Amino acid sequence: MTNIVTNVISSTYIFLRQTPRVMKTNICWLLVGALLLVSGCAGEPGDLIACAKVAWKGLRKVADERTERFQGKVQEDTARCRGSEKAVAVRANPWTDWQNYWATGDGGTKGPESFWRFKHLNPNGRGIDGALLDIEYQRIELLKFNLFDNGGTYKDYVLGRKGIDGGALKVWSEMRLPKSDPQFQAVGGDGTQLCQGELIRFRTVSGICNDLRNPLMGSSGQLFARNVPFEVTFPDLGKNDLAQNRHGDRLGLLKPDPQVISRKLFTRGQTAPDKCRDGHGMPGYSADAECDYKNAPFFNVLAAFWIQFMTHDWFSHLEEGHNSAEMTSVGCAAQMISGVEKPLAPDEIAKLGCRPADKIDKSFIAEDSEPPTFSHKGKTHLTRSYKTTRNTVTAWWDASQLYGYNETSRRRVKRDPKNPAKLLLVPASQRAGNGERLGYLPLFESSDPMNPQWAGQEATAFPDNWTIGMSFYHNVFAREHNLFVDEFRKRAAAKPDEDSGLRNPARPDAVIRNKEVSADELFEAARLVVSAEIAKIHTIEWTPQLLYDEPLYLGLNSNWHGLFRGHPLVEAAMEKVVVNKFGKSTDAKKAGQWYSVFATGPGIFGLGNKVYKDDAIFAKYDPKKTDIWSLKNPDHVNGGINHFGSPFNFPEEFVTVYRLHPLVPDLVEYREWDKDPNVIRNKIPVVETFRGRATEAMRQQGLANWALSMGRQRVGLLTLQNHPRFLQNLELPRLGTATGKIDVAALDIIRDRERGVPRFNEFRRQYGLKQLRSFDDFVDQRLVKDSPERKEQERLVKILREIYGKHKCDASKVITAAQKNNDGTPINDCLGHPNGSTVDNIEDVDTVVGWLAEFPRPHGFAISETQFQVFILNASRRLYSDRFFTSSFRPEFYTHLGVEWVINNGPDGEMKEKQRSNGRDVEVSPLKRVLLRTIPELKPELDQVVNAFDPWARDRGEYYSLEWKARKGAEPDAAFKRGKP
Ligand code: HEM
Repeated sequence: MTNIVTNVISSTYIFLRQTPRVMKTNICWLLVGALLLVSGCAGEPGDLIACAKVAWKGLRKVADERTERFQGKVQEDTARCRGSEKAVAVRANPWTDWQNYWATGDGGTKGPESFWRFKHLNPNGRGIDGALLDIEYQRIELLKFNLFDNGGTYKDYVLGRKGIDGGALKVWSEMRLPKSDPQFQAVGGDGTQLCQGELIRFRTVSGICNDLRNPLMGSSGQLFARNVPFEVTFPDLGKNDLAQNRHGDRLGLLKPDPQVISRKLFTRGQTAPDKCRDGHGMPGYSADAECDYKNAPFFNVLAAFWIQFMTHDWFSHLEEGHNSAEMTSVGCAAQMISGVEKPLAPDEIAKLGCRPADKIDKSFIAEDSEPPTFSHKGKTHLTRSYKTTRNTVTAWWDASQLYGYNETSRRRVKRDPKNPAKLLLVPASQRAGNGERLGYLPLFESSDPMNPQWAGQEATAFPDNWTIGMSFYHNVFAREHNLFVDEFRKRAAAKPDEDSGLRNPARPDAVIRNKEVSADELFEAARLVVSAEIAKIHTIEWTPQLLYDEPLYLGLNSNWHGLFRGHPLVEAAMEKVVVNKFGKSTDAKKAGQWYSVFATGPGIFGLGNKVYKDDAIFAKYDPKKTDIWSLKNPDHVNGGINHFGSPFNFPEEFVTVYRLHPLVPDLVEYREWDKDPNVIRNKIPVVETFRGRATEAMRQQGLANWALSMGRQRVGLLTLQNHPRFLQNLELPRLGTATGKIDVAALDIIRDRERGVPRFNEFRRQYGLKQLRSFDDFVDQRLVKDSPERKEQERLVKILREIYGKHKCDASKVITAAQKNNDGTPINDCLGHPNGSTVDNIEDVDTVVGWLAEFPRPHGFAISETQFQVFILNASRRLYSDRFFTSSFRPEFYTHLGVEWVINNGPDGEMKEKQRSNGRDVEVSPLKRVLLRTIPELKPELDQVVNAFDPWARDRGEYYSLEWKARKGAEPDAAFKRGKP
C-alpha cells in the first residue's frame, strides 16, 4: 500500500511538471484539500497554511534563461511547509535549502506523523519529497544549461540543425571515425557511418561504436568536455571583461602559491608527529603508530579506494603515467602578508615544510590557439574553451582499468592460456581460506608494455598510482570475471544445446547454443557483466553511503531501478513515454528535460531494451505480446540512449570534484580474519604499499585480511587540513628532479589551474548554486556560537583570508553572466557590500579549496553540495548515454546468465538481507555479494554488513545514524575505544 501511494504521489509530481497551467491549478486545489484534510492534526498550523499556499501557487517552471534558474533556494512558504521554522531560519545562507527539510537527516530530523500515516502529506513525506523535487529541478536545469562539448559540436547545439533543436540532436559529423582509424572502412568510410557486425557485439577496446551512429564518441583520446560556458574557463588568462572584473590581476599558475596553500590549508595536524613520521608510521609496522586524521564515521577505507578505482576507468590526463616532457616549478616561493605577496624566507620554508626545488611535468594541452567564434541572437560565442585537453582512456563505464582502453593497455591484460575466456590468476599463497584457491593477478613481465616504475606490480591495463587499494579491487574483479566464466561453463556443460542468448550480428537469426560460445565471446560477455556490476555497485551501494540520507537513497535507487520497482505496469507505461515519446522528439524541451524527469519512473538502466509492435503502453508485461527488439535494427540496438544534444564525455570540472585525496588515511589499521578481527595488529603505511610494494603486501597478507582491515576502518573526511601526509611528500624518482618528490595536494591545485577550471564562486554560480559573499559564509551557521566545532571553522576561515587576501571593491565592475542579484541587478565586484569597501577575495578561491571548506553539508554527505551538483549531472549522463546500460542490456550481448547475474547480483537469484536497514527491507547489496563469492572466508564478518562501504563493525542504528558505535560482537574493537574524532 505504502508503495502504491509513493507511486501515486510520484506520478502526480511528474504529471504536474508537464501539465498545462489550468489543469495544474485544479490538481493543486485537490492537493490543498487533501493536505489539509489528511494532515489536519499533524505539524504546526502555520506549516499547513504555508503548504496550502505552495500548492496554490503550483510548481515553479523550469528556467528559460540561465540567470533565472533554480539555485536550490525555495520561497519562505515552501521552506516552512517542508521543514518548519528551522528551514526558514537559514534561508539567507548560500547553501541549498533541502538539507533542512523534515526527515532528511537522522531520526532527530523527523517530524510528527499524521494519524492516517499518509506519508507524502505528513511532515516527513513533505520533507523528503520536497528534497527530491529540488534535486530533480537541479538535474533538469543542469542538463539544460551546463553541457558544452569541446569537440566542435557546440555551434549546432546553439543553432540547431535542419529544423531540429540543438538539444535534440543525436548525430554529429565530429563523432565520425577519422580516416586514420583502422575501423574507418568498416563503419562506412566517407559515406554515412554506422557501426555494425563485430564492432557492435561487445565493448570495443578503444571505446568506439558504443553509439552506432557516433562511432567516435567516448573513445580513448577524445577531448574533455566542459560544464561551464567556454568564456568562463581559464580565468587567469583574463580573456574577457567579466574575468578581469572578477579577479583583477590576482591570479596565476603559481598565484596564490600552491605549495603554501597545501601546507597551510591541507596538512593534517598531528598530536604525536614521532608516531606518524609523515605517514611512514613506526618500525615493524607497530600498532603504536598514530597518524591523526579527521574521519567520517559512516564511510570506510574500501570506499576511498573504490572511487580511485572508478576514476581510473572514467578519465585520465596522463599517457602511460606521464604528462608532457616540459617541466615547471610548483611554488613554495611566496606568501601573502597583510594582502601583499612576499617571498618566503628560508626559515619560513622550513616551518612550512614545502620544497622550492620541486618540479613537475606540465599537463598535456591538445589545442591552445584562439578558439573560433560564431554569432547568435546578437551574442558572440566561442566554439570551444581557450585550451583543450584529452581524456586518454575511454569515457564509458566499461571497466577499462581492468580490460584496456587502447592496444598498448590491452597487451597488459593477461588471459589464462588454459582457458582464454578467463583472466590469468595464479596461486600465490598457502594461506587458509576458500578464496585463496581463486588466485591472484600475475606480475608484469619485462616484455609487457610498461613504464619502468610499474615493475613488480600486478599486470593490469591501468597500473598507475598503484597501492594496496588498487591491488585489492583489481584482484577482486578478476576473480569475479573468472567466477562468471566458470558458472557459464558449468551450466553449459549441463545443458549444452540450450540457447545462450548471445547472437552474432553477422548472423542475427542463428541461435548460439551454450556449447558454441567461444572463449573470446565469453571473455567479452564477462567484461560486460563485470562493468554493469561495477556501475550498479557504484549507483546503489557506494553513492547512497557517500550521501547517507533518505532522499539520496530514494533518488539513486530510482536512477537504477526506477521509482516504480515492483509495479511493472506503471513502469512499462513510463518507459514507453520516455523512449518513444521524448527520446525521439526533435524538440529540445521534450528530448531533454521531460526525458530526464520521466526516466526517473522506469529507471535509466535497461531503458529501451524491449520494443513492441503496437506501442501499446502496457504491452511489456502482457504475455500475449511479442518483444520485437531486433539486433538487425540499429534503432532498437541504439534506441534507449540520450545524449541531450551534446556528445558524451566527462567535463574537466568533473575531474576537479574527484580530487578526493583526503579520503586516504596515512596508515591502514591491519587486522586478520582468522584470528580476532577486533584486534588491530599493525599499522601499515599506505605509502609502504606504493607501486610494486602493494603487490608484495597483497601476496603476503592476502585479500581477506586487507578487505577486513579496510572494511572496518573509517575514511578521511573531505575537509581542510586533512590531506595524507605521505601524498604531500610522495617520492617520484621518474621526474629526475632535485628533490625527487612531489606534493600531490599542491598538484591538485596546479592541474586545475593549468586546465582552466573556474574558481569556486563562479563555479557555483555556473552550476546553479548560490555564491558566497565572504569567507565567513563557509562557517556553518547552524552551529552554536562558541562551540568548539564552530571555533575550528572560524580558525580555518582566517587562514583562507590570510592566503587569498582582500581588496577594495568596485561596484561598477560586473563579474558574472550566470546569475543576478535577487533584485535583478547584475552581480558586481562588491557582492552586495557597499561600493569601495574592503571585501574578501572569495572569487579567487581555488575550486578544490572551496569545496573542502564547505562546512555546512546535507546530513550524511561525505562530499560537499558543490561536488554533489556536478555528480547529479554527470552520474546520470554516463548511464543515459551508454547503450550497454540501456537498449543493449540484452542477452544478445550479455548472455541469459549475464542478464540474470546483473539483475540478481549473481547466479543464485535475488537475496534479501535478514536485517532491515533504515526502516525497510533491503536486498543483499551487490558488492557484498561479490565479496562473498570472491573472498568466501569473510562470510561470518560480512553477515553483519548491510552496505560494504559502511565501516563493517559499526552499528548502523535506526535511521541514518552517523554515530560511531560498535555493533554487537565488536565492542572490544580498538577503533571504537578512541571514540569520536
Ligand atoms: C593512495 C593513493 C593515491 C595516490 C598515490 C595518488 C596519486 C596521484 C598523483 C601522483 C596524481 C597526479 C597526477 C598528475 O596530475 O600528474 C593524482 C591525480 C589524481 N588523483 Fe590520486 N592518488 C591516490 C588516491 C586517490 C584517490 C583515493 C582518489 C579518489 C578519487 C584520487 C583521485 C585523483 C584524481 C581525480 C586525479 C587527477 C587525475 C587526472 O588528472 O587525470 N586519487 N593522484
